[in-house]
Amino acid sequence: MAAVAMSSGVALKQGVSLAQSEFRGNALRQQQPGAAASRVQNVSFAVRAAGYTDELIATANKVATKGRGIMAMDESNATCGLRLASIGLDNTEANRQAYRQLLVSTPGLGEYISGAILFEETLYQNTTDGKKMIDVLADNGIIPGIKVDKGLVPLTGSNNESWCQGLDGLASRTAAYYKQGARFAKWRTVISIPNGPTELAITEAAWGLARYASICQDNGLVPIVEPEILLDGEHGIDRTLEVASRVWSRVFYFLAENNVVFEGILLKPSMVTPGAGCPERASPEKVAEYTLNMLKRRVPPSVPGIMFLSGGQSEVEATLNLNAMNQSPNPWHVSFSYARALQNSVLKTWKGQPENVEAAQKALLVRAKANSLAQIGKYSEEGEAEEAKQGMFVSGYTY
Ligand code: 13P
Repeated sequence: MAAVAMSSGVALKQGVSLAQSEFRGNALRQQQPGAAASRVQNVSFAVRAAGYTDELIATANKVATKGRGIMAMDESNATCGLRLASIGLDNTEANRQAYRQLLVSTPGLGEYISGAILFEETLYQNTTDGKKMIDVLADNGIIPGIKVDKGLVPLTGSNNESWCQGLDGLASRTAAYYKQGARFAKWRTVISIPNGPTELAITEAAWGLARYASICQDNGLVPIVEPEILLDGEHGIDRTLEVASRVWSRVFYFLAENNVVFEGILLKPSMVTPGAGCPERASPEKVAEYTLNMLKRRVPPSVPGIMFLSGGQSEVEATLNLNAMNQSPNPWHVSFSYARALQNSVLKTWKGQPENVEAAQKALLVRAKANSLAQIGKYSEEGEAEEAKQGMFVSGYTY
């Protein structure tokens, strides 16, 4: 019975080499003859409940705390290179380290930021003065998370759509990330409206997210579930609502089928907006109304937090939309997990110059505080720089 009570993450940490399916197979063999087939779902839930369930719920609730959100700084080396190139810097490990060090060591950041999503390099990296980046985050009261997907590739048999890789070896990778100090994870897959979306692409995206979420929970990491509906396209807001509703319905169906504990996940949706090329723009109030209606019809209240991505909106637009969503109480914590909408002014202020680090950290605090106020519905656009109102949409953007 001891083996049944052990999660696969625990098994890995103790050096027991069992594939997930073999492990569940073992668990099933403990059942009474004839009862096994009908108890499959109970068995896998019991296995997880004996492992990390309480900790997962506690972690998710710590990330989803009032007035705080997530700083996404998990750009792959290639994407980080594009960010550095925008301020004339080479994509070297030293430059990535200097930039990430600036972000994580911003004094007082933990007042507004509860979690930071890292790329693998940063999870294992030190600052220039020899301190682990994750310890600097911990000193700031920020929980480290880790991007675990392996990026997007073409989905053969679809209408030029893509799917997200990374399930192979995910159990052992997540066990190692937990050991290193990560407590939550992120998997970003995308859905393109102009390219369909086909049923194949939606099913693949939802199934991949559900398998990822299940594996993360077995290994102690709270999964952030992120099916990004890309801004590309000339469609209006009603079309986005229709697609988002279809996608989230499928995602929750497969999350349930995979016995994912809803209390121990976080969501990272796109806001429901018109396509980037649609001439008819939507006010923050309209975006809030559409987005919240869609989520209330699809997301159970047991989910602790909804942490939006910014997706190419300007810094101010992303903050205004979040603020509009927090004008009345919601069933879940409604907050942010922005990359571009937190980092854009920071990069432009820093310019790679050591003498600009302090000013860049102040710029980060300005954005983090603005979004913190938006999380409690008390943000005002007054005094925002023109720069922060510039959209950042780029077609085909990847992480
Ligand atoms: P953006 O806020 O730039 O869309 O980032 C989304 C993301 O997935 C980063 O982790």
